[in-house]
Amino acid sequence: MNTLDAIFSGRSVRQYQQEKLDWEEISEILDYANRIPKLIDGIAIEFKLVSNIETKQGFRRPFSVKAPYYLCISSEEKEDYLLNAGYMIQQLNLYLISKGLGTCYMGASPGMGLKSTMKYTYVVALAFGKPSTQPLSTGSEAKRLPEKELVVYKEGVTSDIKQLLAATRLAPSSFNNQPWRFVVYKNRIHVFAKKNLLLAKAFDHLKLVDMGIMLANLILAAEELWVDVTLSSLEHIKSKPLQNNEYITTVVIG
Ligand SMILES: Cc1cc2nc3c(=O)[nH]c(=O)nc-3n(C[C@H](O)[C@H](O)[C@H](O)COP(=O)(O)O)c2cc1C
Repeated sequence: MNTLDAIFSGRSVRQYQQEKLDWEEISEILDYANRIPKLIDGIAIEFKLVSNIETKQGFRRPFSVKAPYYLCISSEEKEDYLLNAGYMIQQLNLYLISKGLGTCYMGASPGMGLKSTMKYTYVVALAFGKPSTQPLSTGSEAKRLPEKELVVYKEGVTSDIKQLLAATRLAPSSFNNQPWRFVVYKNRIHVFAKKNLLLAKAFDHLKLVDMGIMLANLILAAEELWVDVTLSSLEHIKSKPLQNNEYITTVVIG
């Protein structure tokens, strides 16, 4: 399965066989994790693999999923570290899905015991293992907002860009919030995050992780579709006061 297939077919899996994976498979996953490109250079991160088979560790809070393994990402707290962490862990997520494994993000933090073993500030984790149910949706649509609520087309675009946006919109997000909004021109996509209500400020942390996850879908899908993209922060948009949205980045095409 290639990355685009993983993007289009992957769904959160919440029921697992509580059994070990072969050591070779685990070691391939860790090798892959060590080679994942960053969104922002100069932010140190650590992926930590936690086995939940012999010793029950970590995630017991409401909404936690009981899985044989968790991969946790911790990061130095530098500017945009949450975007970077989301971007990196989503690449790992797609890799695991492409290997036929089930995965589910864990937004709640683990217990203090596990957290204290991490090198940097804990960000988010990915539960994974062999699914006990069929992991891939066979034909059923992912529950996502309709395109018209998320994308404003200012100019006509090619079918590749349409496909790119379709892959981007399928990204998983905490509580399926889908905070991303896009303003699309022929050769650029301005990316915004919807502002949270005052009451939901506590969720801002996860929102930026979600935005990083979405950017991974966008960049990996662009690679598969042979669309050249670079990210650029445009000062004139950054400095505009926006009521409902926060500017994140601009995707320059070609
Ligand atoms: C950052 C993040 C945190 C999440 N936290 C949880 C969680 O704690 N428990 C859970 O069951 N699902 C969690 N999810 C999974 C989302 O609920 C799920 O991705 C979303 O509802 C879309 O469903 P799908 O992945 O099946 O397409 C999380 C997803 C993300 C991206």
